[in-house]
Amino acid sequence: MLILWLIALVAASPIQQVLNIGKAFNIVDQDDDFHPDIVNKTTLDSWISDQYNVSWINLLKNIGNSSYTQDENLYPGVIVASPSKIMPDYYYQWTRDSALTIRSLIHYLQDNSHDSPFYEEFQLLVEYYIWNNYHLQRLTTKSGDFVTGKTLGEPKFLVNNLPFDLNWGRPQSDGPGLRITSILSFIKLNLDSVTGLNSTFIFNEVIKPDIYYVINNWTNDSFDLWEEINSLHFFTSMVQFKGLLDAWNFISDNNIEIDNVFANEMSTAIANMRKFIQIYYVNDKVNYVLESPKLFPKRSGLDAAVLLGSIHTHDMLDNQLDDLVPFNVDNTYILNHLLYLINDMRARYPINHNLKFTFGEKPHGVGIGRYPEDIYDGYGTTEGNPWFISTATASEMILKYIYKLVNDKQDLIITKSNLEFFKLILNLGDNDLLIVKYDSDDFKNLVNRLLEFSDSFLIIIKNHVDAHGGISEQFNKYHGFMQGARDLTWSYSSLLNAFRWREKIKKLIM
Ligand SMILES: *[C@@H]1O[C@H](CO)[C@@H](O)[C@H](O)[C@H]1NC(C)=O
Ligand SMILES: *[C@@H]1O[C@H](CO)[C@@H](O)[C@H](O)[C@H]1NC(C)=O
Ligand SMILES: *[C@@H]1O[C@H](CO)[C@@H](O)[C@H](O)[C@H]1NC(C)=O
Ligand SMILES: *[C@@H]1O[C@H](CO)[C@@H](O)[C@H](O)[C@H]1NC(C)=O
Ligand SMILES: *[C@@H]1O[C@H](CO)[C@@H](O)[C@H](O)[C@H]1NC(C)=O
Ligand SMILES: *[C@@H]1O[C@H](CO)[C@@H](O)[C@H](O)[C@H]1NC(C)=O
Repeated sequence: MLILWLIALVAASPIQQVLNIGKAFNIVDQDDDFHPDIVNKTTLDSWISDQYNVSWINLLKNIGNSSYTQDENLYPGVIVASPSKIMPDYYYQWTRDSALTIRSLIHYLQDNSHDSPFYEEFQLLVEYYIWNNYHLQRLTTKSGDFVTGKTLGEPKFLVNNLPFDLNWGRPQSDGPGLRITSILSFIKLNLDSVTGLNSTFIFNEVIKPDIYYVINNWTNDSFDLWEEINSLHFFTSMVQFKGLLDAWNFISDNNIEIDNVFANEMSTAIANMRKFIQIYYVNDKVNYVLESPKLFPKRSGLDAAVLLGSIHTHDMLDNQLDDLVPFNVDNTYILNHLLYLINDMRARYPINHNLKFTFGEKPHGVGIGRYPEDIYDGYGTTEGNPWFISTATASEMILKYIYKLVNDKQDLIITKSNLEFFKLILNLGDNDLLIVKYDSDDFKNLVNRLLEFSDSFLIIIKNHVDAHGGISEQFNKYHGFMQGARDLTWSYSSLLNAFRWREKIKKLIM
């Protein structure tokens, strides 16, 4: 099976017969009401109910061998970043975008029963994704080869699984950590493989090389998730740390035998990284986490990457594990980060100018961009704009914060350090210090307020997606129309993640 797979990939011959094993593919019915032509934007709920399906369909269009794939030539499990081939050309597979996108499919498997409409298909696609990464990891690229492990820092590949040979921001060291966490969360579901995968194989052949990469590279500069700056980055460090921690947990939960040297290297790296992250990404001049401290103060350090770094390393499934990772969504430096991004971008982007909370009204989110200094407009460099990923991430972060508040069953204490954040949603004076008792009416009101706040970011997204629910990368800061790569896979994935948390919160506080 394995050997056939590789030959098929290398020879670029039809892969179909190789994969024609196991259960039949579950083609989802593509009739009209499943695929609404126009999303109903009358209310947030009416839009979400349409946009949820449209988002899945448009995301699946970008995955090889999905029931909606747009490109029959894609190998199974290849995740294309966007169908846009010119202006801009995003017709590639990125390690990061793919690892994050596949997570949305894995969430679906975590949340739904086996007879749910997408279940069989998603399981198969995740398995294809793992096989495909097994192949990509072994390519010799401009980053290096598999024997040294350097190729694992390669950020992107052609959609036909050949290396991308032009100059680019290399290496990008977030990929291996992201991939470890995504794949392990799938293995934990303990499903019977339909493509001949088993956890020993995945651990030794796919996860372990990524572990070595993280151990050997976490102190070294690499390009950030926006592919612009060679430095040390909060997002990169966080997902690297989370990857190692998940792997360590997996090893001990499953009594996997590893040699002492490897065990030592891993545990030392985990301990050192944790200390490093807690110290390196804060600075006594500001009270928020810095994305790339070496650039401070020339750059503010404010960046939606920080929010992404927090939400993607805290899945809220396992409190003990989440507590080991610093900077959860309720951390003051993370809440402040969101606060300052909102304040900056409210002023920076004209479409946000009128979106401010005034007493007696519902709280207002704003369109969030990547970072204040951004000048990438989706085609070239002029001025930055709000992004769908960033705006959906703000919504998801607040939802996870609600989840943590309710689940921790702790009183909420508003002090000087988080007062400014709560002024975004409450009418508070400069000297107000409050203790909101867990489960009191005030607590419930506050939770509802946060939910409205989170919804306000989704309403902004609703207002800027097109009439069919299509979502590009950005929306223009003056007139609000979409621009940049169309049908960006990551945009759909991040919106689906926010919808998922909104569902969970609604159930939790009902
Ligand atoms: C969305 O898809 C599900 C099947 O997965 C279907 O039951 C539901 O009716 C669809 N909703 C809409 C609004 O099309
Ligand atoms: C759109 O949603 C609103 C609010 O739920 C509903 O009243 C209306 O009938 C919907 N329109 C269509 C065309 O489904
Ligand atoms: C996906 O692969 C299966 C198994 O080879 C094949 O039967 C099916 O036609 C493929 N589906 C698509 C949409 O390419
Ligand atoms: C990154 O990790 C790889 C694989 O372990 C190793 O070969 C390489 O030397 C590391 N890079 C640096 C800069 O240490
Ligand atoms: C696991 O999968 C690999 C690769 O397909 C195979 O060589 C190996 O025999 C399998 N091991 C078990 C225990 O099934
Ligand atoms: C990698 O990081 C280590 C420790 O910070 C440093 O000594 C080494 O020079 C770096 N290597 C490269 C290639 O940047």
